[in-house]
Amino acid sequence: MKQESLGDAKYYLNRLNTIRDVPTMPEVLFRLNRMFLDEDVSIEKIEHLIETDQAISSKVLMLVNSAFFGFRARVSSISHALMILGFNTVRNAAISVSLVDAIRIRQSRGFDVTEFWRHSIAVAVAAKYLAKQIRMKDPDNAFAAGLLHDIGKLVMLQFLPELFDRAWNSVRRENLSFYDAESNYLPVDHAAVGAHLARMWHFPSLLIEAIAHHHNPPKIAEDIELVVTVHLADLAANHFHRGAPLLPDTADLFPGQAIFVRDQIAGASQWFRELEGEIESASGFFLQGGEA
Ligand SMILES: [Fe+2]
Ligand SMILES: [Fe+2]
Repeated sequence: MKQESLGDAKYYLNRLNTIRDVPTMPEVLFRLNRMFLDEDVSIEKIEHLIETDQAISSKVLMLVNSAFFGFRARVSSISHALMILGFNTVRNAAISVSLVDAIRIRQSRGFDVTEFWRHSIAVAVAAKYLAKQIRMKDPDNAFAAGLLHDIGKLVMLQFLPELFDRAWNSVRRENLSFYDAESNYLPVDHAAVGAHLARMWHFPSLLIEAIAHHHNPPKIAEDIELVVTVHLADLAANHFHRGAPLLPDTADLFPGQAIFVRDQIAGASQWFRELEGEIESASGFFLQGGEA
């Protein structure tokens, strides 16, 4: 039952538009995302921009050289990374490293933010694994989308606290999942809030879509494989860490996609466990500043 006093989805999304720095994103990433919209942008311009932020450029290099990110070549500089990995991968790396840093709250309103990031990192690693299984062209899209998929929860926590509290209270009181609590009580959910933020930040449309639909993959999307991959990775991570049921939502999928989802779910107890080492080292990288 929706509670009218909370207002409608539009009101909350508009409110995000009016908060000046929601949440504080490094200037360099904002400019980088805008730059990618420009088709004539040169490799030198991108390289120069990333290198203006020493912290981000060194973290991007550490990430692309990390075992869990999955490139074998040793990358020595941003220009080298742009050359051998391409714009898209470098941007995904920059998005990934700046995002975890951008929202540095630890614990608030009884919500464990470190645990939140651990889940997001597990989904990133699992989504990248699944992307490789289906030979997706850019598995790092899946990594970045996995890392971002629940970002709307943190945005709610910080900027729309009355919504967050209403959902979080019923998570605790009624033992609901966060998403079910939102569906029952809120006019808008974290998937919509996260997608709205990603749009404000000029993130690539593929990532926006994967965030928006991670709980309910639609039949048609710009990159349906990416959406399905993140949905699956999220289910698997929730199942293994919180004991949530592994029930994929395949109602709206085409039969081919639905079969893929069911096959991967059937084998999840094996493939997800095999990723535990990678998830650990990715958590070490993002949460402690070095690989575990
Ligand atoms: Fe979610
Ligand atoms: Fe999730």
